[in-house]
Amino acid sequence: MELQQANSFTFEQLTDAYNETRIDYLVPMPMNVARLMEYCRVYDVSLEHSCIAVEDEIMLGLGMLGIRHQRGWITRLGVLPAGRRKGTGSALMEGLIDAAHRESLQAMWLEVIKGNEPAHNLFRKYGFEETRELIVARRAPKAEFNKAIFDQIRRITTLNHEDAIILLSHRQERPNWLNETESLQNVRNLSALLVELKNGGRGWVTYHAGLLQLTRLIVEVTVGDPTEVTEAILTVLHQRHKRQDSIAENLCEDEKWLGFQKAGYFDSFRRIEMTRPL
Ligand SMILES: CC(C)(COP(=O)(O)OP(=O)(O)OC[C@H]1O[C@@H](n2cnc3c(N)ncnc32)[C@H](O)[C@@H]1OP(=O)(O)O)[C@@H](O)C(=O)NCCC(=O)NCCS
Repeated sequence: MELQQANSFTFEQLTDAYNETRIDYLVPMPMNVARLMEYCRVYDVSLEHSCIAVEDEIMLGLGMLGIRHQRGWITRLGVLPAGRRKGTGSALMEGLIDAAHRESLQAMWLEVIKGNEPAHNLFRKYGFEETRELIVARRAPKAEFNKAIFDQIRRITTLNHEDAIILLSHRQERPNWLNETESLQNVRNLSALLVELKNGGRGWVTYHAGLLQLTRLIVEVTVGDPTEVTEAILTVLHQRHKRQDSIAENLCEDEKWLGFQKAGYFDSFRRIEMTRPL
């Protein structure tokens, strides 16, 4: 088995290999070519630094590396089911860590779905340590709203993509790779709402409104009770987008999460964020 750079393969080959590695995955996440291309663009994945494990011209597995400043992010790692437990996952990890060293990166990050013990063990074996648990939450469209919330609102301001990026770049919380401003500025047509409450509470939400789904949701509370203000912001948002279901990725389990739950979000699955210095 040898490692090759991912940029010597087509996106069609990479997509096929990725889907093969995820056939038995905990949370099904099939990709198509357009989505994988978009994924690499949004998350700054460098195919030159990503690795493919090949034996007799057959792809056994792959692992990708995102690069931002002096940080690396391991993603899309997987080995075809028939080839597991033979050291391929380890070889891919070593290839990605070597690539990070060659670029003089200072730290590497990744996430693993909670309960994925094979991958979690592999990452621990390569020196990664848990930093925090992140929630992937979803919400179904609902016709009913907590009407009392609308009486508490003083002002709603609608903002465009450029304003959304400015809000995101001033966040207090450390975002995860997926939600970093570097990711979100690569997404087209973000929207934002700034919500002020009569009691002085204040905050905003940025999001991408697709025809069927709201994605890329980020909420920040700048003044007031985090749970109350989050619930109010999300109620305003969903009242304006009644038909779409929503997904909010990589939330922390904090007071804002209570506001998400009050606005109808439920815990879909969790990721564990991990890092190691280089
Ligand atoms: C995680 C995965 C990449 C491991 O690949 P692999 O080729 O089987 O890994 P290796 O043979 O190199 O094993 C390396 C280490 O991983 C861990 N590991 C791998 N499979 C494991 C299993 N079934 N149970 C527990 N630990 C396991 C062990 O720590 C192992 O070290 P050891 O052999 O000294 O015990 C593979 O199981 C896979 O592709 N899973 C589906 C996709 C996935 O989960 N990707 C990660 C997303 S974050």
